[in-house]
Amino acid sequence: MQHRITLIPGDGIGPEVASSVVRIIEAAGVDVAWETHYAGAQALEKFGETLPKELLDSITRNKVALKGPVTTPIGKGFTSVNVGLRKALDLYANLRPIRALPNVPCRYPELSLVIVRENTESLYAGLEHVVVPGVVESLKIITEKASTRIARFAFEYSRREGRKKITCGHKANIMKLSDGLFLDCFRNVAKEYPEIEADDKIIDNACMQLVMRPEQFDVMLLENLYGDIVSDLCAGLIGGLGLVPGANIGEKGAMFEAVHGSAPDIAGQGIANPTALLQSGILMLRHIGEREAADRTENALFKVFEEGRVLTRDIGGTARTAEFADAIIQQMR
Ligand code: NAI
Repeated sequence: MQHRITLIPGDGIGPEVASSVVRIIEAAGVDVAWETHYAGAQALEKFGETLPKELLDSITRNKVALKGPVTTPIGKGFTSVNVGLRKALDLYANLRPIRALPNVPCRYPELSLVIVRENTESLYAGLEHVVVPGVVESLKIITEKASTRIARFAFEYSRREGRKKITCGHKANIMKLSDGLFLDCFRNVAKEYPEIEADDKIIDNACMQLVMRPEQFDVMLLENLYGDIVSDLCAGLIGGLGLVPGANIGEKGAMFEAVHGSAPDIAGQGIANPTALLQSGILMLRHIGEREAADRTENALFKVFEEGRVLTRDIGGTARTAEFADAIIQQMR
């Protein structure tokens, strides 16, 4: 069966890691017709808008997208394409499995936890305005509807994957209304899943606990901004941003992307680690029912890490992006 999948190569290291992942997925025997589209600055130059209608139509039609990182200008310029895409397609759940890989120097080689991040609301939605010159206001929107549906997503995911405990991170002691509502919704939904332990922690304490004793966490449920920050913290626990995958899931479709950004400091050098996007691709293969190909790819990835001969620089090796991809393809032959 042929799958039609929207591909957004993205900016910076995006095209370098995306082309490696496309090669690996093809070598795994999955028949994909890729529909390549641009977003952000590249799309602005070509089509006069950062999120062209053709791109949104393609994802809506195909219901699946694989996306490289897209650069967002800091402090000025266009609003985030990543936030825009998640909102436009209502991809409300962001799933980020944090799992160490063999041979990667890191603090917690046994760690396996999953972050479930609400993807559409909170301060991260970027609703800001100037009240008067010198005074700006940034709005934190939290709704019962979105908080309940992300909590339900976390519990359903945990039930399906055999996860035992969900910790909701919040600052309801200070933001009593907004974070208070998020926490209340979590507690209400938790009553329907008595087999799963429902725990909560104030977010600053949760961060300290993550660094000291991360094994106490199983699934973490976080609103948008905390989820963004804590995902990078967790990436650091298992060896860095080059490794951690992500899935943005909604009722109408799903978009798979790495946690990392466009890494302008190493872009164009052919040395980026494609593992994070590849692991996102593996999540995507499972999502579209290609379980065998997903397992084959994952096994090959683990073998390459176990052997430890061909690893990229961010994790202590010397291999280039394409050499690392070749090693995985070689393993699958
Ligand atoms: P970043 O994740 O791009 O880079 C942080 C550090 O990690 C850099 O030193 C980089 O070289 C390293 N790194 C990241 N991915 C790597 C990989 N695959 N292999 C090896 N090293 C890797 O974060 P930064 O610099 O804050 O953001 C750069 C741009 O990316 C910004 O415009 C930001 O808005 C955008 N961004 C986009 C995201 C997306 O499209 N989903 C997510 C995060 C950031």
